[in-house]
Amino acid sequence: MKKIIVANWKMNHGFNNIDEWLNDLFKDYADKYAEMKNSELVLCPPAIFLDYVDSELMEDGFNFLEKLAQKDGRDLGEFSTEEINEIVVNQRPIKLGAQDCHFAEKGSFTGDISAEMIRDLGCKYVIIGHSERRDAHGESNELLAKKLTAAVRASLTPIFCIGESKETRDAGQHLEFIEKQIMESLSTELEMDNLVIAYEPIWSIGTGTTPTVEQVSEMVEFIKKIIKEKFSNNIKDSAVLYGGSVTSANSGAILKVSNGLLVGKASLDAAEFIKIAHS
Ligand code: PGA
Repeated sequence: MKKIIVANWKMNHGFNNIDEWLNDLFKDYADKYAEMKNSELVLCPPAIFLDYVDSELMEDGFNFLEKLAQKDGRDLGEFSTEEINEIVVNQRPIKLGAQDCHFAEKGSFTGDISAEMIRDLGCKYVIIGHSERRDAHGESNELLAKKLTAAVRASLTPIFCIGESKETRDAGQHLEFIEKQIMESLSTELEMDNLVIAYEPIWSIGTGTTPTVEQVSEMVEFIKKIIKEKFSNNIKDSAVLYGGSVTSANSGAILKVSNGLLVGKASLDAAEFIKIAHS
């Protein structure tokens, strides 16, 4: 099963250090792309930098193409446009994602960005329902259902975030809570090729406290069971990631029981993110 490692920069980084961050990543990964058939890195910078990061990723994709061509002894001119697109955009294992989108395609929504706009900028993924948006922007399960529909309409893969509070966990109601979040936001009518769910307990985000590997495993299996039982008719493929205080010290163990990681703070440091991705 493919592993997906997401860097969620939140509202951090700027033009003063994006290049350095990306160059560190590109340098480290340049010779590994061909082996990365079963893993993907997803970069989610603030929306204002999506276009810039996309142009850098495209350039990196062309470097990858050149390396492939050299290896196979082929001239770049021999590649068809479709082949170039397939290698530079699809086979390139570093993808772009947005941190949020609006549910409408367009309209009078000052300050918002539609899923279509995000897709046109080169994104493959969009994070939906991060607890910071649920909390600070009052995003309800019902609103998130509309955003999930918007993401699918724009051919984006949603990274749908769910997770319980400390009180809910302490009360032993975490499984019911997670099931409710899923059932109120996912529709059995919505056809999806791919869905990524990120289990992010709120009490773990930015706190340095993580659940045990057994607790992560229990939740990952529980989420997979719900998706299989309730949505197997309309969701073709799904992956369950873990997010919350991931570092290179705990990433290896968590990756053994999940399909990937959603990394916040630790993704701001390129060297640390690279270590996490290697695990
Ligand atoms: P954190 O954030 O890794 O800083 O805990 C994770 C997230 O909010 O996605």
